Amino acid sequence: MENKIWAEEILDKIYRKEAIVVKRNADKIPYTTEDGVFDDWSSPDKICWWTNGFWAGQLWLLYHAYKDESFKKAAEGIEKKLDANLMNYMGMDHDSGFKWLLTSGANFLETGSEEAKNRFMLAAGNLAGRLNLNSGLIRAWNDPRNGDTAGWAIIDCMMNLPLLYRASEMTNDPRFKQIAMCHADHAIKAFVRENGSVNHIVTFDPESGKITGSKGGQGMKEGSSWTRGQSWALYGFTLSYRHTKKKEYLETAVKVADYVLSQIPKSGIIPVDFLQPDTCDYEDSTAAAIFACGLIELGEVDKKYLDAAAMLLKTLTEKRCCFDEKKDHFLEKCSAAYNDNKHNFTIIYGDYYYTEALLKLAKKDLFLW
Ligand code: GLY
Repeated sequence: MENKIWAEEILDKIYRKEAIVVKRNADKIPYTTEDGVFDDWSSPDKICWWTNGFWAGQLWLLYHAYKDESFKKAAEGIEKKLDANLMNYMGMDHDSGFKWLLTSGANFLETGSEEAKNRFMLAAGNLAGRLNLNSGLIRAWNDPRNGDTAGWAIIDCMMNLPLLYRASEMTNDPRFKQIAMCHADHAIKAFVRENGSVNHIVTFDPESGKITGSKGGQGMKEGSSWTRGQSWALYGFTLSYRHTKKKEYLETAVKVADYVLSQIPKSGIIPVDFLQPDTCDYEDSTAAAIFACGLIELGEVDKKYLDAAAMLLKTLTEKRCCFDEKKDHFLEKCSAAYNDNKHNFTIIYGDYYYTEALLKLAKKDLFLW
């Protein structure tokens, strides 16, 4: 069946289920499910978590396609709750793109809300202020994980740069885009390895900016190949190209994509780390969905990328997706990090990227990045 028609059929099932899910969860900000029931990260100790924009983003995408008012209402509620994060300096880190592109950014695109634009610009200003001028890289986190993180940058940040590109478009002020391109230019050299795989964490001296090393981060170990990190690079450089048309970003995205295509197992099931032992059954469906989003965009360069994306989405749909309307999640077998104790569970950003990828295939998406 043609990809577009196939995706439309799956999306109709997603829409029908989500209309039921939103009724029983309208006040929540979910991260995962317990026995098929969404948890809630709205409380003051959890409101700054980096994934808190994804459900709202999924609801905005589906609102754009299906115009169900209950989706818009729930997404607007989450955006307002995130004001507690916007007013918490220590809770503002490089993940502002994930949080405010998918809430305020989406709201502004759909409704033109000035209140949403105000939130978006506050988040963009904060992200811009995280650039370390000497390394040319945006600082990732505030918290002292394994010591001082003033000189830590991570590949995931490529996905947050669109907050800056869009801030420049919205204000006609090139500063934000200049900062995003500075990070992207330096990230090519600092993160991308010769074979097209990428580091998760790169460290630098925050005074001199000199690169001091890399860390395995959420992957198996230093020098390994954390699949979600590869997916952030693949889609992130593709997005930087889409916003700037700078050819080095497209070349980098293609280099990462070719590496990824060489590593995807025949089963289409994505492990947590491409270098994990064959005996290890840790999976990450989120990485499969993010790969699909980036590969669909690269399909304009070469159809082999689109074919790979369709294969990943069909595998997720047939083997890893839950359409049971009594359960709140869609994707199963996701993992946050290789060295965590817990693996193969549901994570909200898997559902978000799965929905986004299907909407792209069906040509019904709202471009939020
Ligand atoms: N950005 C954090 C992660 O991908 O888990």
